[in-house]
Amino acid sequence: MERDLLGKALLDYYNGNYTENIMTSTNISDEDELPLPYLFRSFKNMPKLEQKALQLCHGKTLDVGCGSGSHSLYLQEKGIDVKAIDISKGAIEVAKKRGVKQVERLNILDETEQFDTILLLMNGTGIFQEIEQVGKYLTCLKSLLKKGGQILIDSSDIQYMYQDDDGGLWIDTNAAYYGELDYYLSYKGEDEIPMKWLYLDFDTLHLACTSVGLKCKKIMDGKHFDYLAKLY
Ligand SMILES: C[S@@+](CC[C@H](N)C(=O)[O-])C[C@H]1O[C@@H](n2cnc3c(N)ncnc32)[C@H](O)[C@@H]1O
Repeated sequence: MERDLLGKALLDYYNGNYTENIMTSTNISDEDELPLPYLFRSFKNMPKLEQKALQLCHGKTLDVGCGSGSHSLYLQEKGIDVKAIDISKGAIEVAKKRGVKQVERLNILDETEQFDTILLLMNGTGIFQEIEQVGKYLTCLKSLLKKGGQILIDSSDIQYMYQDDDGGLWIDTNAAYYGELDYYLSYKGEDEIPMKWLYLDFDTLHLACTSVGLKCKKIMDGKHFDYLAKLY
């Protein structure tokens, strides 16, 4: 997020300068709009899967990649001790202004405290970036868990994105993993530095958890190949 266009967009929206949405695309999909109001969603406008995750939070909680802080604000109002972190300067500024009390600009890999619940929402596996890095991130997350703690994370099996009109699949078998995407984001005529964004199907996540000594249980399926999992 070096140019921090996401942060810029969040700040614009927060400051009442909402004139356009973020545009996203990937190496396997065309341009799509990411509506800024969605990044400021209230509990009632959240997908069921996110609502479920919030209901399962208990104890000292870490909201990883908090964005504008929507999930943290809800938890805070429920009396949960929540800390929000993000690598985006703009996101942190907005989360602070919206009233999140404990908020820090921090990469998850640099977190040192321990938590009862670690929350990663809106394709939480995205921040792992590449299939090769899943073990590293899971090991880090596991080290941040207090005894009896849980990680709540959502993702999707995006195999459907490779389906052509006759139902055939065109997955590149030379690629490391079909959920590893190149992700492009632009806002107000500026292009963000391309990044990797990882979607993990449940079985692959389960396997990766087993290899670092975490248990992995599916909590619920979403509406469109997405799911919420609990790692513990
Ligand atoms: C898809 S957004 C989700 C924002 C928010 N959770 C929501 O649901 O509205 C992903 C967020 O993760 C942040 N992020 C990416 N890599 C991160 C890392 N290594 N550590 C902490 N935050 C990270 C990004 O800056 C971005 O704000």
